[in-house]
Amino acid sequence: MAIRLGDIAPDFSAPTTQGDIRFHEWLGDSWGVLFSHPKDFTPVCTTELGYVARIKPEFEKRNVKVIGLSVDSVESHMKWEKDIEETQGQAVNFPMIGDPERKVATLYDMIHPNASDTLTVRSVFVIGPDKRVKLSLTYPASTGRNFDELVRVIDSLQLTAYQKVATPANWKDGEDVIIVPSLSNDDAKKLFPGGWDEKKSYLRVVKQPSRG
Ligand code: BEZ
Repeated sequence: MAIRLGDIAPDFSAPTTQGDIRFHEWLGDSWGVLFSHPKDFTPVCTTELGYVARIKPEFEKRNVKVIGLSVDSVESHMKWEKDIEETQGQAVNFPMIGDPERKVATLYDMIHPNASDTLTVRSVFVIGPDKRVKLSLTYPASTGRNFDELVRVIDSLQLTAYQKVATPANWKDGEDVIIVPSLSNDDAKKLFPGGWDEKKSYLRVVKQPSRG
């Protein structure tokens, strides 16, 4: 059964490169990113893990914990991490789940048999502090993900979780946003006393409010 937006992210126990975890307990009150890789010792994955490790401070700033997975053992991940550090100039600084029996991969529907019977696709799940899935992405093995885009999306998710706004195409943190259509003008006046630019009755553009 596919995991849909708004579902509780399934909990699991698993070994990782930083010790055994129970997923929900490990997440605590943080946001989380769970992302899968087709296989250890593969080129695109090597670049992805190095990049995510490099921008880990961006996730930390946003109270997001990052955890990777592939259907290889923790021992294999640890050997591979030496190559990642050597080739990407960056040590992997977040846990990698070992999943040789594909328990977590199956739970999260990360194996798409018409793409590959054995390898996980490149899945990404962003999970909120309420343990619900806020975003999911699926990329094929041949295409490395854009993790700067993932950070951008997390900015939008965190803003729209707390404010009655949505973010327009290509929005970046600090740019104008849109008042959600479900908010009446009377209620919008209370939340946005500085007013807004009403391009259409359903398209009300406003300065980005703070996240809190
Ligand atoms: C890679 O990470 O480079 C990769 C993995 C599986 C299939 C194709 C590419």
